[in-house]
Amino acid sequence: MADMRVLLSEEQIKERVKELGNEISRDFAGEELLVVGVLKGTFVFLADLIRHIDLPLQVDFIDLSSYGLTTESSGEVRIMKDLEQPIEGKNVLIVEDIVDTGYTLKYIKEIMLRRNPRSLRICTFLDKPDRRKVPIVSDYNGFTIPDHFVVGYGLDYAEQYRHLPQVCIVETVN
Ligand code: IMP
Ligand code: MG
Repeated sequence: MADMRVLLSEEQIKERVKELGNEISRDFAGEELLVVGVLKGTFVFLADLIRHIDLPLQVDFIDLSSYGLTTESSGEVRIMKDLEQPIEGKNVLIVEDIVDTGYTLKYIKEIMLRRNPRSLRICTFLDKPDRRKVPIVSDYNGFTIPDHFVVGYGLDYAEQYRHLPQVCIVETVN
C-alpha cells in the first residue's frame, strides 16, 4: 500500500474546473466545440469539465501509448485508438490529465494539426513544468504542481487510485 498526502482537495478541484469551463465557454462563444479526451486519465476531469461548458459540443476520445510501463515517459508515442470522426474545419479542444515531459501532447498536437482543424487548443488538468523536455504550453490549465507523482481524479499509479475524488501525492510505495 502506498502512503498518500492530499495535494488538491475535492472542493479546490470543483471550483477550478468550473472556472475552466466558464473560461472555455466565453472564449468559444457562438461556436461549436469538439472535445477530445486522451484516455484513460482524463475521463473524470472531462466528465466534470464539459458540464460547465455552455456550448454545443461533441466528445471523442483518443488512446495513446508510450512504450514501457514506467512512471517516466520514453518519448515514443503511438496511437492505440484513434478518433471516430474527422476534425477538419472543427474547433478542437484536447483534454489531457497532466503534462509532464510534454512528449504526449507534442505528439497529439502534431497529428491533430495535420488534419486541418479550424482551431486547436489544449486543456490540461495539471501541469508539472519542472519536468518539461519539450516546450508545450496549455491554453487552459487547472493547477500547476511541483515535481511529484500524483494520483486520483482519474490519474493512476499502476492502474490504481483513479477513483479518488482528490489529487494525492504518492510518497512511498511498499
Ligand atoms: P508526458 O508525455 O511526459 O507529458 O506524460 C504525460 C502522461 O504521463 C500523462 O498523460 C499521464 O498518463 C502520465 N503521468 C505523468 N505524470 C503523472 C503523475 O504524476 N501521475 C500519473 N500519471 C502521470
Ligand atoms: Mg495519460
